[in-house]
Formats: sequence, structure tokens, C-alpha cells
Amino acid sequence: MVAPRVTPGHVAVVGSTNLDLIAYTPRIPEPGETIIGDRFVMGFGGKGANQAVMARLLGAAVGMVNCVGDDAYGELTRANLSGFGIDVSHVYTAPGPSGVAPIWVEPDGTNRIIVIPGANHRLTPGQAAAAIAGFPTLDVVIGQFEIPQEVTVAAFAAARERGATTILNPAPGAGVAPELLGACDWIIPNQVELAHLLDGEADPADDAALLGARRRIGCGLVVTLGEAGAALVGSDDRVLRLAAPRVAVTDTTGAGDAFVGAFAFALAAGLDTATALRLGIACAADSVTRPGTQTSFPRGDRAAALLAQACSGA
Ligand code: RIB
Repeated sequence: MVAPRVTPGHVAVVGSTNLDLIAYTPRIPEPGETIIGDRFVMGFGGKGANQAVMARLLGAAVGMVNCVGDDAYGELTRANLSGFGIDVSHVYTAPGPSGVAPIWVEPDGTNRIIVIPGANHRLTPGQAAAAIAGFPTLDVVIGQFEIPQEVTVAAFAAARERGATTILNPAPGAGVAPELLGACDWIIPNQVELAHLLDGEADPADDAALLGARRRIGCGLVVTLGEAGAALVGSDDRVLRLAAPRVAVTDTTGAGDAFVGAFAFALAAGLDTATALRLGIACAADSVTRPGTQTSFPRGDRAAALLAQACSGA
């Protein structure tokens, strides 16, 4: 595959870091039941950190804005992000535990996640706004729902002031504060999160419903659809649906984050939204073939090949 001529941009992620405690299990235990699992893996996660890592693996210059605890996990998290070449000068430390996420993964790759936010909830609006204002160059800012929404509001307001594009991944699913919605250029929910956003059922298989959702939300909308791919409605009010490639699924944990990080990489690099959608789907589909969260993301030649393929329109 010929390497595309892509000039990577600058991405900041305002969001969570967690230590992922992943149990691979033959099935989910019943209430009161104990079962023997297959294996256990400890890894670095958090939706914010995962998205930062994916954007970085594709070549973006990435800065992380976050708060870790003053425990061992906090230092390990900082070192992990630095190891990818991510700027951690705005990763702050607060007294108390870092974020953790116990995760169960079944043989078909289905995951169940509980997030205990810890220090993720100690990041302040002032810290986030100052960090965003302080990056020398910035094209795209990403936020999620594992830190308080008012922090993301402050970050997105600072991003808007300097002309950066804002992307909200409203995960875990919750309603969105109107002032946050008003500061979004793109919002990327999965089907469950879309229902939360719209306060009820929304059928992402129906183009008219998606168009209505975009108008109601008032910014660009991308709905990730798991193995069915994703659908995008931009400012031209046209629905673009792309299927995902068929792959052997090992672990779906972090696939949505791979999508968001790759989509943000593409926008920061000045690529068009259709290419961003293709790249997001390709990286997410690739990630589910390997176990873990950040460990499952495509990197090196594999990431370059997926980028080249997305740029070629395939
Ligand atoms: O999206 C997957 C992520 O959700 C995990 O890494 C976990 O930490 C939670 O944030």
C-alpha cells in the first residue's frame, strides 16, 4: 500500500484515564454465583486516554488533559502516555485513587464495564480551559463523559475561542448539558448513547430519524453501529452509511475509542469526513481482532496501511 501524503494535525483530549482490570470469562456469573474465569489482564484504558493513543498511533501530535491520583497507577498512567509520545504536561495529580475500570469480556468479545472515576473527577474547568488555551497549535479537541460535563464545557469553550474543532463522545451514555451541546462541532454516540441523548428510542437504521436527530442536536452526528459500521450526517444534511469489514472478533473493549481517535486524527489532518468515517471504522474493526483496549489498537505499518486504504476510498 502506498503511504498517503497526509500531514498529521494537533489533537487534545480532555478526558479520562483508567487502569483496566479485564477478566476474560466463559460466561457472566448469575447473582450470588462464583465462576472460574479464563484469564486476567491489567492494562491502560479510560475512554479519553484510549482516544488519545489511537490518534497518536496514526501520527497526530496529541496532548492529554486529565487528572490522575497520587497512587502508583497515576505515575504508571503518565509513563504509559509519555511512552506513546503524548504530551502529558497537562496531566495533573490529585490526592486519592486514580480511575479504574473492572471489565468482563465474554468469548464472543462482548464487554461489560464498570468505571470508578477516582481522580478523573478532580480535573477542574479552570485547569481544562487553561490547558486548551496553552497548547501552541491545536486543530481538534475531544471530550467524553467520564469527567464532569462542566469541565468539558470549559475546554470546548476555550477550543472554540481558538478555532479548534470539538468532538464529543457522549460515553458512558447520559443526557448532555445544553451548554455543552452548543459547543460541539461533532458528536459521536453509539446506539445506546444516542437514545440517552435524545431522551428515548432513536432508530439509527432510519435515515430520516438520523436527519431529525442531527437537526435536533444542532451539530455533526456520527453514530457508531458496531459490526454494522457507522452513519454520518454532516452540515449538508446527507446521511452517509458505511459498513464495517467482517472480522473475527476477540474483544470489543475500546473499539468505540479507536473510532473516535481515528476520526479526530483525520479531521485534524484536514481529511474529508467520508475519509474520517472510513478510517474510524477501519481502526475500530481492526482493534476488535485483538485483546485489550490500547493494546488492541493498530500501530506501525498496520496503522499506516489502514490510513492509506481509507485515503484511497476503499
Ligand atoms: O471504552 C473502553 C474504556 O471504557 C475502557 O478502557 C475503560 O477504562 C472505560 O473507560
